[in-house]
Amino acid sequence: MYLLIGVGYILLYNTYMKDFDYLGEGEVYLDSACQSLRPRPVIEALNKYYTEHNSCGERVKYEWGKITDEKVESTREKVLKFLKLSPRKYNTSFTLNTTYGINLILSQIKTREFKKIMTSEIEHNSPFLSSIAFSARTELPREVMKRNDDGSINVSDYDFNKAVVVVNCAANFDGRKLLNIKELVKAVHKAGGIIIIDAAQAMAHSADIVRGVEADAICFSAHKMYAPSLGVIVWNNDLVDKLNVGFIGGGMVDDVEKDKYLLSAENKEHRYTRFEAGLQAWGEIVGFGAAIDWLEKLPKSGWKNLEDNASELYDFLASSDKVHLINTEPNPTMSFYVKGLDSHLLGEALSREGIMARTGYFCVHYYLSHILGLPPLIRFSLSLANTKEDIEKIKKTLQKILY
Ligand SMILES: Cc1ncc(COP(=O)(O)O)c(C=O)c1O
Repeated sequence: MYLLIGVGYILLYNTYMKDFDYLGEGEVYLDSACQSLRPRPVIEALNKYYTEHNSCGERVKYEWGKITDEKVESTREKVLKFLKLSPRKYNTSFTLNTTYGINLILSQIKTREFKKIMTSEIEHNSPFLSSIAFSARTELPREVMKRNDDGSINVSDYDFNKAVVVVNCAANFDGRKLLNIKELVKAVHKAGGIIIIDAAQAMAHSADIVRGVEADAICFSAHKMYAPSLGVIVWNNDLVDKLNVGFIGGGMVDDVEKDKYLLSAENKEHRYTRFEAGLQAWGEIVGFGAAIDWLEKLPKSGWKNLEDNASELYDFLASSDKVHLINTEPNPTMSFYVKGLDSHLLGEALSREGIMARTGYFCVHYYLSHILGLPPLIRFSLSLANTKEDIEKIKKTLQKILY
């Protein structure tokens, strides 16, 4: 009986691993925190769009356009289901990436309704820089909150009165999560503020942290969750009351007169158009729908494989006297440096062995370089595409380089 379950596990695991069969012999991809590899069904969905129903969404009456519309509509629905958010309260709009989504919202905020902008010290430059620019432009003060080692924020230490808060719910250098995200959202709302969650690093492997969280907006990048390059803003209906219309164009209006226009988003069926100026990346949106299906259908053995691989690599790194590991617990994303060895040189040495890892500060300059005073790091970000053989190869190669 146990043997049968075991064999079943292996068969399911082998089935989904075939979706990455384009990887060359010995190639080990460890940069999924930047953009994940795309499984075959996602690439096929994208191909199918280009070869079978290449068309503008939401505006054409010919048959190809109808197929695109159905698939795009279905992707919007899948996103809300994936995040366990009600379609009565939330909308899904598409953009370019997380950075664009955050900037798009911040650039339209009715500043007279707010008193300050707040972010946290472990942010990616995407919210970090946009909050600096927001403060400079609006002359509203900016506050940088501390994050505990476990990723949480001591909510009672801060005054969120009429604050615009923008924070991540998972960090991109060690995957630490905003464990008390619900408490934070509640405190911000109670104080009359709004909160934008940067979920770029949560959506692929830790979506539970943000599921059902009623933030004002959740921004993320589909390209970090096995999908084509695409940004996503999931936003609460009430958010638009706090925004001016500051970025507008085709696809957003139902009528235009000499000096005024009628926004399509006034119709609640088309609210999502509020952030979608101009032609969208229809093929990528369709591919994103396929990526969500792929993630939802992934066998449990896939998730277990990822967890086991992360633990094994973490244990290996944590036990080396030459490695300074940033993580305090296993996570598919881990960063470290080797004492006395330049991380960029190490990255190049790994690359010569077919191992693709990132080096530097991963757009977290303030925290990693200025607060922690660390040298440039090397980051391994594992994904569902990594095999046990990959982990063995990484360990062996590091052993050879370090000792
Ligand atoms: C936590 C976090 N936020 C924001 C971003 C920016 O994502 P993008 O470059 O797709 O806009 C990243 C990218 O790595 C990230 O890790």
